[in-house]
Amino acid sequence: MPDLAVNFAGITSPNPFWLASGPPSNTAGQVMRAFDAGWGGAVWKTIGEPVINTTSRYGGIDYGPQKLMGFNNIELISDRPIEDNLCEIAEVKKRYPRHAVIASLMVESRREAWHEMVKRAEDAGSDGLELNFGCPHGMSERGMGAAVGQVPEYTTMITEWVKEVARTPVIVKLTPNITDVTRIAVAAEQGGADGISLINTINSLMGVDLDTLAPRPTVAGKSSHGGYCGPAVKPIALNMVAACARRVKIPISGIGGIATWSDAAEFVALGASSLQVCTAVMHYGFRMVEDMIEGMESYLASKGLARLDDLVGRAVPNVADWGDLDLNYKIVAEINPDLCIGCHLCYVACEDGAHQCIEEYPASASGKRIPRIIKDECVGCNLCALVCPVHGCITMEEIDTGKPVFTWKDRAREQRQQTGIAYTPSLWGE
Ligand SMILES: Cc1cc2nc3c(=O)[nH]c(=O)nc-3n(C[C@H](O)[C@H](O)[C@H](O)COP(=O)(O)O)c2cc1C
Repeated sequence: MPDLAVNFAGITSPNPFWLASGPPSNTAGQVMRAFDAGWGGAVWKTIGEPVINTTSRYGGIDYGPQKLMGFNNIELISDRPIEDNLCEIAEVKKRYPRHAVIASLMVESRREAWHEMVKRAEDAGSDGLELNFGCPHGMSERGMGAAVGQVPEYTTMITEWVKEVARTPVIVKLTPNITDVTRIAVAAEQGGADGISLINTINSLMGVDLDTLAPRPTVAGKSSHGGYCGPAVKPIALNMVAACARRVKIPISGIGGIATWSDAAEFVALGASSLQVCTAVMHYGFRMVEDMIEGMESYLASKGLARLDDLVGRAVPNVADWGDLDLNYKIVAEINPDLCIGCHLCYVACEDGAHQCIEEYPASASGKRIPRIIKDECVGCNLCALVCPVHGCITMEEIDTGKPVFTWKDRAREQRQQTGIAYTPSLWGE
């Protein structure tokens, strides 16, 4: 079986699956049960001066039959005393020496406060530190969390403070509530971070009760912005992880909407060398990790990869600037008449919502009205295949145009040569 063992910036664990900082990693009892179930590591629920939490504090969005497609919380950091958390970390480390226990920390932005907290966490035996520069609500209004992680200079400065005293690896956890996450990743690297983790939650308001007009999750008729996470955020997280993988050299712990081995494998291919999960554990419990381990092992074996490390970052070179995409590459839609149920969703979507490349067609001998793709007009946008309710009925087939690769950058270069005017300046260095 392929080797899933991880050495993340010096933090070792039997597999890459770690609990993300949050309710599942709130107590020693939970973390030990998670390790027994197969989790390789845990980032403890963020420790700092204890807070008072609200009731209620969680919100969810269902989509059709899918519960919790998106999840949100207005919870703060740990509401338990610092000493209780640290004693429990010591206890877990004593009983599970091979597993990774990482202390997530958030304290006021003072050098001495950080120095003291780092020493206490390390004295408790934590294998590494995760600096929570990411929480978007409650703590950020007090100058912590995302208030630090949104300013490159603060990120570098506090990372440097921590590195002045830290003896264990330091991971900086990034907020997605920023225009360009890579600027903060670079700032963390410049501050001496040994790794980064992302994403924390995305600022959100879950909805409004239309009878009472109370926003959700509701606290005595009111609400406040909270952090969004769960399956819905995975594409955002993947994009940010890939962007960071293209800019920094330090290892990346991938977080955001991971619920299956294949979600995890996508993060790894885009540059993550460990993975953290919160919402899915809150939804399904610790045992989900069994499937993740088994699925990841089978996938690596099927690809002939001996260890997880062999997959790390393998898809990153395929993440291109838009200007490097081949404008001559062409695909067109193909409808399988045997699978088509004649619902005409593809026709309606293409006619009203895209490029008018499908025509309705008279009923066949079988009585089925199978739409027809107008191949010369089809722009290959994928919409018909995306809306089709029958798996595999509409496929996108590659057309050999016989033309060489031609990119927007090539086009900009040509235009500049012809006119002397740079049409697409700046971003792509044209
Ligand atoms: C209820 C809840 C509490 C959380 N608390 C923390 C926290 O204390 N510290 C932290 O760094 N992240 C916290 N997070 C963020 C998660 O660690 C994670 O970054 C985010 O939820 C995205 O991962 P997911 O989609 O697997 O949930 C919390 C998330 C949730 C849902």
